[in-house]
Amino acid sequence: MNKDKVICSCYKVKKGDIAEAVECGACCFKDVKKATKVGKACGKCKKDAKKFTKKLLAEC
Ligand code: FES
Repeated sequence: MNKDKVICSCYKVKKGDIAEAVECGACCFKDVKKATKVGKACGKCKKDAKKFTKKLLAEC
C-alpha cells in the first residue's frame, strides 16, 4: 500500500490517514469520515475511500 497516495484531494486525506483511523478504532466508513474528513467536500473520493476502508476492515 502506498501510504502517501492522496485519496481525497479536497482534504488531502492519504491512504495512510485512513489506515490510521481504522487502527485507532474506526469500524465503518462513517467513523473514518469523522476522523479524517474524507469525502466531506465534493464527495468524488467517496467511492474509492469507502472501498479502501472496506478492504482495511476486512484485513483486521
Ligand atoms: S476529493 Fe474528497 S471530498 Fe472532494
